[in-house]
Amino acid sequence: MEKEKQGKIDSHTGLYGVFGDPIRHSRSPLMLNQAFQEAGINGVYTAFHVTSEQLKDAVAGIRALGLRGVNVTIPHKVDVMQYLDEIHEGAQFIGAVNTIVNDKDRLIGYNTDGIGYVRSLKEETGIELRGAKLLIIGAGGAARGIAYALAKEAPASITIVNRTKDKAEQLAAHLGPLVSARGMGMDELENSIGSVDLVVNTTSIGMHPNVDELPIPASILTAGMTASDIIYNPLTTRFLAEAKDRGCLIHGGLGMFVYQGAYAFEYWTGTAAPIAIMRETVLQSL
Ligand code: ATR
Repeated sequence: MEKEKQGKIDSHTGLYGVFGDPIRHSRSPLMLNQAFQEAGINGVYTAFHVTSEQLKDAVAGIRALGLRGVNVTIPHKVDVMQYLDEIHEGAQFIGAVNTIVNDKDRLIGYNTDGIGYVRSLKEETGIELRGAKLLIIGAGGAARGIAYALAKEAPASITIVNRTKDKAEQLAAHLGPLVSARGMGMDELENSIGSVDLVVNTTSIGMHPNVDELPIPASILTAGMTASDIIYNPLTTRFLAEAKDRGCLIHGGLGMFVYQGAYAFEYWTGTAAPIAIMRETVLQSL
């Protein structure tokens, strides 16, 4: 029997959305509205074009209008923190918020990017992270969230490699209390990396339209490793294609996007996210 679907907007409809600049490219509204409908939740999710100058007022608007939940994207993930009542431990460590929960007028900031990534990685590859040796390419905002969430899985070590070596070392030092971590420059990678179980690209290298670019030399990739990319346009980057050719298990970036939204949905509604339909909705929009 077909499940009853909530489709009506009425005076009880809960409001959700995403703040960003630019924002019209966002696939979150498609994905989250489909999730509300599938789960039978009376909610609507829309995209708000909020500039940096407007951010403070936009957050005041969450309170004034009673928005139930908001995602925050580029360029507001750091700046928004000062306007919230509480920052969850993970978001504090990462230094960025992508999800706001309005809990009876208390605005709480979370970061679901890294945990979304790890949930996607585990569910899609079955990888055992406990005791594993991990290599992260990049040391920017995305790398921070992913490194934090991976560190929570008790790996043996995390190596960060980055074009700007200083940033890799800073991130490794920040992770120090959680995990054995070291940072290195690209030039050191081939000689000192040894064997790793997982290599993840957190940079934009290889993203459309620069689809021929590789974030690391392909020689690093050897059979049995898992290679993971947070890029989902294209779905299979050159990095993943080269990894597959060399006998690695590959994991693309679509799942990270789906699961960061799934966690937000679950924090807001207390209901398990309809993952499969969310993924299908985004895939169809690509
Ligand atoms: P994000 O929030 O997406 O992580 P970011 O904080 O600007 O964005 O970080 C981008 C990361 O990709 C950085 O690690 C950056 O390296 P630098 O720290 O040296 O800038 C890396 N990156 C981006 N483009 C790159 C390129 N063409 N070559 C090498 N690294 C690149």
